[in-house]
Amino acid sequence: MCCGSCAKCLGTTLIPLAVLATLANILLFFPGGKIIDSENITVYVWYFGGILGSGVLMVFPALVFLGLKNNDCCGCCGNESCGKRFAMFTSILFAAVGILGSGYCFIVSSVALNIGPKCLQAGQTKWEYPFVDGDYLSNHTLWNRCVEPESIVPWHLTLFSILLIISGAQVVLCAIQAINGIFGTLCGECKCCGCCGVRLPLWTA
Ligand SMILES: *[C@@H]1O[C@H](CO)[C@@H](O)[C@H](O)[C@H]1NC(C)=O
Repeated sequence: MCCGSCAKCLGTTLIPLAVLATLANILLFFPGGKIIDSENITVYVWYFGGILGSGVLMVFPALVFLGLKNNDCCGCCGNESCGKRFAMFTSILFAAVGILGSGYCFIVSSVALNIGPKCLQAGQTKWEYPFVDGDYLSNHTLWNRCVEPESIVPWHLTLFSILLIISGAQVVLCAIQAINGIFGTLCGECKCCGCCGVRLPLWTA
C-alpha cells in the first residue's frame, strides 16, 4: 500500500460524504418537506454544520488528497521537483482543515440531537424547544408534544444523526491522512508502492 494511493482512496470517499452532508443540512431547512418561517427553524440548522463544515470545507482536503494519487508520489500542483515530502506535508495541513470542518459539524450535530427540534406545541402560539436533555431520544411518547411541523422529530433525529455519522467518518478519514502524511513527510523519498519503508499497522493488507 502506498501513501499516494491511500490518499486517493480517502479523497474519493470524502467527496460523496461532503455532498451527502450538504444535502442533509439543506433538507433540515424544510422539515417534513415543507417551507416554514425561517425563525421557526431549529437554530442549529443555521450553524451550517453540514453545508460549511462537512461540505465546503471538506472539498479542499478531498481535492488535495486526490492530487496525491500519482503512484510516483512526486510533485505537488503538477510540479515534480516540488517533491513528495512537500506534497505529503501539504496534505497534513489540509487534513487539519478537514478535521476542523468535520469536527465542527460533529459538535453542532451532537448538540442539536441533544436539544431536539424547535416546534409548535398544542395550545401554544410560540415555537419552542419542548425537549430537555435529550429526553425525547429514549421516550417516543414525548414526540407528541410537537404538533407542527408534521413529523419534525423523526426529521430532525434522522438528518442530524446522518450528519453526526458522516462528520465522524470524515474526522477519522482526515486523521488517517494526517498520519499517512506525517509518515510520508518523514520518510521523504519513497518507492511507491511499498511506501516509505514503513508499514502502517492501519493498512497492512
Ligand atoms: C415518557 O413520557 C411520558 C410523558 O411525559 C411519561 O408519562 C412516561 O412515563 C415516559 N416514559 C418513560 C419510559 O420514561
